[in-house]
Amino acid sequence: MVGTGEYTTGFGAGKTSDKSAGVVALTMCDLRRRELVGRLHLAGVNGAKLPAIREHIRTALAGQYPKSFPTPEAISMSTYPPDGTVDAAAYRVALDALPAGSAVVIFTPDDTHFDIAMECIRRGHHVLVTKPIVKTLEQHLALRAAAAEHNVLVAVEVHKRWDPIYADARDRMRALGDFSFMSAYMSQPKAQLGVFRDWAGRSSDISFYLNSHHVDFTEWCIGDRARPVSVVARASTGVAAGLLGRPCEDSITLLVTWLNLGSGTTGVATYTASWAAPRSDVHSQQRFFCMTHGGEVTVDQAHRGYTVATDASGFASCNPLFMRYTPDDGKFVGQHGYGYRSFEAFISAVRSIQAGEAVPSDFEASLATVNGTLQGTAILEAGRRSLDAGGAEVELLYDAADEVRPECAAEVVGAACEGTPEIPAPAAPARCREVQLTPIGLRVHSKGRSEA
Ligand SMILES: NC(=O)c1ccc[n+]([C@@H]2O[C@H](COP(=O)([O-])OP(=O)(O)OC[C@H]3O[C@@H](n4cnc5c(N)ncnc54)[C@H](O)[C@@H]3O)[C@@H](O)[C@H]2O)c1
Repeated sequence: MVGTGEYTTGFGAGKTSDKSAGVVALTMCDLRRRELVGRLHLAGVNGAKLPAIREHIRTALAGQYPKSFPTPEAISMSTYPPDGTVDAAAYRVALDALPAGSAVVIFTPDDTHFDIAMECIRRGHHVLVTKPIVKTLEQHLALRAAAAEHNVLVAVEVHKRWDPIYADARDRMRALGDFSFMSAYMSQPKAQLGVFRDWAGRSSDISFYLNSHHVDFTEWCIGDRARPVSVVARASTGVAAGLLGRPCEDSITLLVTWLNLGSGTTGVATYTASWAAPRSDVHSQQRFFCMTHGGEVTVDQAHRGYTVATDASGFASCNPLFMRYTPDDGKFVGQHGYGYRSFEAFISAVRSIQAGEAVPSDFEASLATVNGTLQGTAILEAGRRSLDAGGAEVELLYDAADEVRPECAAEVVGAACEGTPEIPAPAAPARCREVQLTPIGLRVHSKGRSEA
């Protein structure tokens, strides 16, 4: 585990966070209890914090779940750098301790993902990187090439793909014809800016942090039959900059145009993310409305009809489907949460590769691999570049030989969706996929001039 912050250990999480016990370390300790992982290593930067982090893990894991983690060994992990020292390259020392073919999980600020992931890949490790995997298409393409060269599994941790409602919605939408319109929203309360004080507005933005979820969801739904062609971004300001004392957007909205490859029709999506929301009944608002040529789907994942009110904490809408933290008679019983299953799926894949039963390419359909997530990175980078160019339109570029070739379009339009014969099947033939669906660059159209 590289990174020792909120998502990995829960350390530093605000009181209102939905993950003060963390996600990664808890899940890994439970996977070890189930004998699915072996030794655990935890690498951060500031060794002065490590004694407090280990104590936090002891309280959050062994303290809450004494029957799952009854001994000190059950929550043990080697930590880096040495206590009291500061070393931004400590993860390299941790990697020295791993045999090639190990599994590495990276939860660090967005601008550090590329160097850390590349180092892991070059050493022959399989890597799961939190979203956004990197901030530029160029870096994403470089990771993709390195993963192929070293024959390792590289995937993005986008846990909404394991949310049962989102997964079901995706399967329904795929059977409802071409993509038409989406409006997606995700937010967290402004207190979160305190947790992310070191990097928010400095090395990353709210769109990379939260729009990444719904952008990935769209790519997962339609990325094999449609491609994003242009992005325009707008931002609101005023709250985050006041709290952090430096420029930082409060909310970012991306307006993305998608081209349905089979029919040549267009769809439009807006993705809005904010970290300036008020404290509310949920930590993360997350909802979308999607219309296709054959139907509509509306999901409000924050409100699933399960509320709790207490004297101590007031009113809350609960989502144990993400992480079920509530202990059951001293045991951790969150194995079915989508936050947990996302890691379990990656670890299972790595185990089958280690056992010689599978190769990395076997997981293209079941995991968000480095190969199947390029459109998302291109959209997020285009959003940033649009904002930096005063709201200019950013075009996504594809291979020059890449116009929808007549033979491909004919194959697509000829087929029909099961159950909806009047709607042309939107699936693009496999042999057209690579050139038509993988963006290779961006072009910023600002005030009469274009820059690629
Ligand atoms: N917190 C969440 O709810 C959440 C959810 C999903 C994804 N993420 C992603 O996780 C990443 C940030 O992790 P976090 O939320 O735990 O944030 P955080 O700010 O709480 O922690 C960041 C951690 O990264 C470590 N770090 C920084 N540079 C490093 C380096 N060179 N080597 C090793 N460690 C380094 C820091 O020491 C710190 O422990 C972001 O990419 C974010 O998008 C966070």
